[in-house]
Amino acid sequence: MIPTWAQLVYLGCAVAFILALKGLAGPRTARAGNLIGAGAAVVAVATPFFYLDLDHVPLILAAVAIGSVIGVVGARRVQMTQMPQMVALFNGVGGGAAALVALVELYEMGPHAEEVGWFTLAATAFTILVGSVSFSGSAVTFAKLQELMTSRPVVFPGLPVVFGLAGIAGIALGVLVVTDPGVSFGIPLALLGLLVGVLLVLPVGGADVPIVISLLNAFTGLTVAAGGYVLGNVVLLVAGTLVGASGTFLTLLMARAMGRSVSNILFGALRGGSTLGAGEASDRPVRSAGPEDVAILLGYAERVIIVPGYGLAVAQAQHTLRELVDVLLTRGARVDYAIHPVAGRMPGHMNVLLAEAQVPYDQLVEMDDINGEFKHTDVVLVVGANDVVNPAAKTTPGAPIYGMPILDVDEARQVVFLKRSMRPGFAGIENELLFDPRTTLLFGDAKDSLAKVLSAVKGL
Ligand code: TAP
Repeated sequence: MIPTWAQLVYLGCAVAFILALKGLAGPRTARAGNLIGAGAAVVAVATPFFYLDLDHVPLILAAVAIGSVIGVVGARRVQMTQMPQMVALFNGVGGGAAALVALVELYEMGPHAEEVGWFTLAATAFTILVGSVSFSGSAVTFAKLQELMTSRPVVFPGLPVVFGLAGIAGIALGVLVVTDPGVSFGIPLALLGLLVGVLLVLPVGGADVPIVISLLNAFTGLTVAAGGYVLGNVVLLVAGTLVGASGTFLTLLMARAMGRSVSNILFGALRGGSTLGAGEASDRPVRSAGPEDVAILLGYAERVIIVPGYGLAVAQAQHTLRELVDVLLTRGARVDYAIHPVAGRMPGHMNVLLAEAQVPYDQLVEMDDINGEFKHTDVVLVVGANDVVNPAAKTTPGAPIYGMPILDVDEARQVVFLKRSMRPGFAGIENELLFDPRTTLLFGDAKDSLAKVLSAVKGL
């Protein structure tokens, strides 16, 4: 039994998790929200030491210390562009840990399992199966994003059949765990979960991988919630439910922002669609210019919109970009940043990047609010973005991004792209806007190009 004081502490932690989520919803309160959540997690992890008669305390403390060191070092070293795979890794070990805890519970139930009740046993089977799916699925997404394996969809003949059979076998083993409780069915269930996780993620490619990470995150949340039910632990139940719900919402929002359905993302490659991935660079002629020409365009424009994308994060050019915008503002131009919901590789990627460079929040304008402005804009400066401004999303049925809402950059008077080559964006398709007579390209790393444009604007 958990004593009343500990239950109250757990309740306080659960409330703190909800406050943390509320804080994370806005850039001004995100840091405080993060600290509240982390603080509550520390309290929740420390509490059992004060009421349980634990065995192996030194081993537990050693595991906590190792995990903390890996977490701190990993979080400090990770590049912003590697954040999705970091989330995948942490999420996967969360699901795996929940599955292991459920297996140990099943083992400990032993001869008393009959008294436990079918619902608790079903929750245990669910935790083992879905936690294992989350662990192996996250490991494969990590390998894809870290380029340890191909990021393109991996499909082999018979995959849908193997996947279907594995799913049915998983349900059957789950039922056996409930009717005949014990690890003899629990361990095969976990192994099958690992297989299903791999089969689920292999056919997902390229730009869809971050969405699957969010979906697996939701799975881990549900697993932890079910684990909380099995252990009778309210803080796990609440925290898991919050993660499950927010992961589900995030998945749906990301899919909608990309104009796709979740089933198309997961099973598109099995049906012969969803072939997102690297495409070929085009050799059609384009209009390119030097930094001085771009400086003149920008320096004498009254209305400028900046479109940041993944390449800004790769080049780490956010500080130079802000300096350039500051100079344009002092020259009397009106300048905003247009933020597409899936620019970059993770939700809020551009907001975080620009906040790092101290760009005022009120200069960041969401897609729906700025789209009407492009037709009154003299120059749009596209810094390392491609798919989020590609008109193929509106004009080319069958294109992988067809249906994705985009920034209507093609309506502006002049467009300047900063990129290194003619390679396409993440979706792997050509962008007609690069060949438009109103478009100018400045080739090179975004940070170098911006520095040159900045010094040229200062010299005007
Ligand atoms: P992308 O379409 O991927 O285009 C990035 C551009 O940056 C490319 O044109 C690339 O061209 C350029 N680039 C890369 N490194 C650069 C550097 N160092 N200097 C200058 N340019 C550089 O990016 P986007 O427009 O931000 O679109 C995001 C894509 O990711 C979309 O397809 C979206 O659906 C997908 N996605 C996003 C998310 C979230 S939540 N953000 C989740 C899943 C998928 P070069 O190689 O020629 O330089």
